[in-house]
Amino acid sequence: MAKISVIMPAAGSGSRFGAKQNKIFQRIKGQPLFLRTLELFTSREDVVQVQLVVSPADIPEITERFGGNLGFMGVSLCEGGAQRSDSVRNALARVRDDADLVCVHDAVRPCVSPLWIDAVFAQAHATGAAILAYPIHGTLKKVGDTTIQQTVSREHLWEAQTPQVFRTALLRRAYEHPTAATDDAALVEALGEPVRVVLGDPRNIKVTTPGDLALAEAVIDSIPKPKKKNDHHPFAEAQW
Ligand code: CTP
Ligand code: MG
Repeated sequence: MAKISVIMPAAGSGSRFGAKQNKIFQRIKGQPLFLRTLELFTSREDVVQVQLVVSPADIPEITERFGGNLGFMGVSLCEGGAQRSDSVRNALARVRDDADLVCVHDAVRPCVSPLWIDAVFAQAHATGAAILAYPIHGTLKKVGDTTIQQTVSREHLWEAQTPQVFRTALLRRAYEHPTAATDDAALVEALGEPVRVVLGDPRNIKVTTPGDLALAEAVIDSIPKPKKKNDHHPFAEAQW
C-alpha cells in the first residue's frame, strides 16, 4: 500500500463567500466544513500524515475550539501564506520523507466520495500524477462587460477538481519556483510531466459562495459510499 501524505489548504480568507469568518468554519450538516473534509482522509489506512494549512488569523480559533478534535484525528497544523500556492509550499516542506505520494485537497470540497479518492490515489500510484476532473457539459461564452464576445468550444475542456495527487519528489520539484497557479497540476504540467485526469463527479463542489454551500448540503447524502468499512482499499490495490 502506498503511503500518502495529505495537504489540506484552508488558509484563504473566503472573500467571495462574504461571511465575517473564513468559510471553512461554515456548517454543513451541523459540522464545520473543514472537519467534515478532514474526516474523509484521517479515516483511511493509506494516509500516514494530514496537515491542515491555516491562516495566522484563524490559528487562535482553530486551536482553542478544535485543537482537541484535531489532536484526536492526528492532524497537524501548518501556517499558510498569501496565495494558495504559498500555503501548499509551506506544508510540502513538512511532508514526511517516507511518503510515496502527496495528496492536495481543498478544505472546501466536502463532497468527495471515498470511492473517487480511491480512484485518483490508484492512478497517481500507477503513473505519478493524477487529479479528479470533470468534462465541461455546458456551452461556454467569453464575455466582455455584459456582451458575448465569442462562443468557446468545449471540446477537450475539463474542469480541474481536487484531490490532486503526485509522487512526493515530483511535487517538490514542481514547487521549486515561485508561482501564482491556482492548482498544483499546473506546476507539474509546467515541468513537462504528464498528469492524468480521473473522471470525477459534478457533486464534488468547491464551496466558493453561499449558493455553493447550499448545493453541497443538498447533494452530500447522495455521494456514493463504499459498501462496507475499508471496502475501498482492496479496490484501489486491484488497479495497481
Ligand atoms: N487557500 C489557502 N491559502 C491561500 C488561499 C487559499 O490555503 N492563501 C485555500 C482556501 O482556504 C481553500 C482553497 O485554498 O480551501 C481554495 O481556495 P478558494 O476557494 O479560492 O478559497 P479562498 O481563497 O478562501 O476564497 P476567496 O478566493 O473567495 O477569497
Ligand atoms: Mg482564493
